[in-house]
Amino acid sequence: MTQTATEPQHQTFPPPADLAAGAVATADLYEEAATDRLAFWGRQANELLTWDTAPTQVLDWSDAPFAKWFADGKLNAAANCVDRHVAAGNGNRVAFHWVGEPGDTVTVTYADLHAQVQRAANALSDLGVRTGDRVAIYLPMIPEAVVAMLACARLGAPHSVVFSGFSAQALRDRVDDAQAVAVITADGGYRRGEPAPLKPAVDAALETKDGVESTVKAVLVVQRTKGEVAWTQGRDHWWHEALAAAAPTHEPVSVEAEHPLFVLYTSGSTGKPKGILHTTGGYLTQAAYTHRNVFDLHPETDVYWCGADIGWVTGHTYIVYGPLLNGATSVMYEGTPNTPTQDRWWQIVETYGVTKLYTAPTTIRTFMKWGEELVSGHDLSSLKVLGSVGEPINPEAWTWYRRVIGGDRTPVVDTWWQTETGGIMISALPGVTTLKPGSAQVPLPGISVEVVDDEGRVLPAGHEGAGYLVLTEPWPGMLRGIWGDDERYRDTYWSRFRDQGWYFAGDGARRDADGDVWLLGRVDDVMNVSGHRISTTEVESALVSHSSVAEAAVVGASDPTTGQGIVAFVILRESAHGADPASIGQELRNHVAREISPIAKPRQVFVVSELPKTRSGKIMRRLLRDVAEDRQVGDVTTLADSSVMASIQAGMSAGKSSDG
Ligand code: WT7
Repeated sequence: MTQTATEPQHQTFPPPADLAAGAVATADLYEEAATDRLAFWGRQANELLTWDTAPTQVLDWSDAPFAKWFADGKLNAAANCVDRHVAAGNGNRVAFHWVGEPGDTVTVTYADLHAQVQRAANALSDLGVRTGDRVAIYLPMIPEAVVAMLACARLGAPHSVVFSGFSAQALRDRVDDAQAVAVITADGGYRRGEPAPLKPAVDAALETKDGVESTVKAVLVVQRTKGEVAWTQGRDHWWHEALAAAAPTHEPVSVEAEHPLFVLYTSGSTGKPKGILHTTGGYLTQAAYTHRNVFDLHPETDVYWCGADIGWVTGHTYIVYGPLLNGATSVMYEGTPNTPTQDRWWQIVETYGVTKLYTAPTTIRTFMKWGEELVSGHDLSSLKVLGSVGEPINPEAWTWYRRVIGGDRTPVVDTWWQTETGGIMISALPGVTTLKPGSAQVPLPGISVEVVDDEGRVLPAGHEGAGYLVLTEPWPGMLRGIWGDDERYRDTYWSRFRDQGWYFAGDGARRDADGDVWLLGRVDDVMNVSGHRISTTEVESALVSHSSVAEAAVVGASDPTTGQGIVAFVILRESAHGADPASIGQELRNHVAREISPIAKPRQVFVVSELPKTRSGKIMRRLLRDVAEDRQVGDVTTLADSSVMASIQAGMSAGKSSDG
């Protein structure tokens, strides 16, 4: 153990000496980027990518907030991810060790990818897909998902990946918004030990609705589960037949740097999902740069594993584009972490000798809940760097991750970014930064952020109160807009600090005395109690630091005297099951008061057995707020498990709450 203090938030961890000695990223990157930011990005673009026409321009911001990066350059994304590695003699390198949930495995080399992507591009082209057309991809976590994305990129046909857990209606909404001409799907995939059909949702999505036909002309169907499928003649085609019939070679389409690479839908605070648009040259530059430097990637020796789904931006940037651009060897896993047993992930890490692992705090806390015995039976000594993404990681989970998974040895990098940013923006560099559990720490070289107050005044390092996180300079991977809605793009991201020309991220943050950034959750999750601004995340962190608590979600519920009152929902650890809910509630309230301040003491603590989460693992505080404010619970369709709310309410009305 290198730390001195006992409180996790006060420990610091310098980079391990051996890692620092061979690190890809060194401290001089910060200096180089600070000296000439645009020259720095120009160098990254030229060194990390292979251009058909090398760009001479870096940034054109004259039409702000619509950026152009490397505008006079031309390239192809798939050729950069695949062809150039094969041409360099690395065709036999493994791109993916793929593991199916039932236990089947496939080894996909760069040469395999090259062959399949070319055939798939030809198959799409045979079905009428042209450069510029949108293609929806609705696939489970199988190798064909990667092939499908790259085949689209090879044609310059922007893909719109729709998470395979989404409903038929959600798929239709996205297909309609992007006016997709084709859908690539599968008969089904494996989830929790069972085949889960997908094709029926596609059939339902593409039905004529209110007399309106869908824009989709062709559906390509990967055979995965081999279940029965309904078939629409003329529209539906088996993937394996189409690829077998297609020509084996395909010339990648050289596109301009600003050619759209993909649209990815993400939910806004209200209303219909936003189609976040990413283009080619800038996005790929940031994907390659961040993946290489944040994960200290040594492509010849590393085995990298990102546990996300390709349906989210993390899957796009850190399963597909970043790793493939860098010629990495990755693990890709189809299923859930507890199928067939709760140590599935650790079996996989051990089998493939995974060196870099990237996952979300919610997953880490789930593993904490399951207990460290499941981990200790496996040899995880290959691991060198652990990453976290998606929400603030509480110091307890951070230190557990480092100690139990990382063998008390590996750096943990907490990476802040968004669908909109395309790639990581704030993160430690594992060979440079002294780590501080719970803080995402510093913007990457080339990225500029500030924490500001309501009026846009910069809050200095060490300032007590919370502020807003803003991005003060454009960055290569930035979204280029919301598909078909320029006004919403300006309104959502660029109007809050219009005078300063800053991008408003929607996150609360503060900077500690060292200047390190602490993310405090979405600003709509920041509570105001008696005029004090308190982050839900901070209270959750305090709750989770109690030995009885496995997971916690906190909401601000309106309160007649204090404005908002803090209401907490907690899942107890196995060891605390059977404890009296009333007394544990009281104990937890006091614990929070001790950990943060009496002003942060929850008004109520409810012991529950599950929390409402979206399929991407985000806690739906809106629903908990409904419960806390004794309202009828709102729309639950985006929940991973729609029965959770009923069980929470049943538990509460059965008197399992504890009210201090
Ligand atoms: C929001 C973006 C980034 C890919 C996955 C989520 C939150 C993300 C962190 C982090 C604190 C984080 C923010 C952000 N977030 N990473 N390391 N620390 N918060 O992408 O669905 O677009 O969500 O996730 O609130 O705004 P997303």
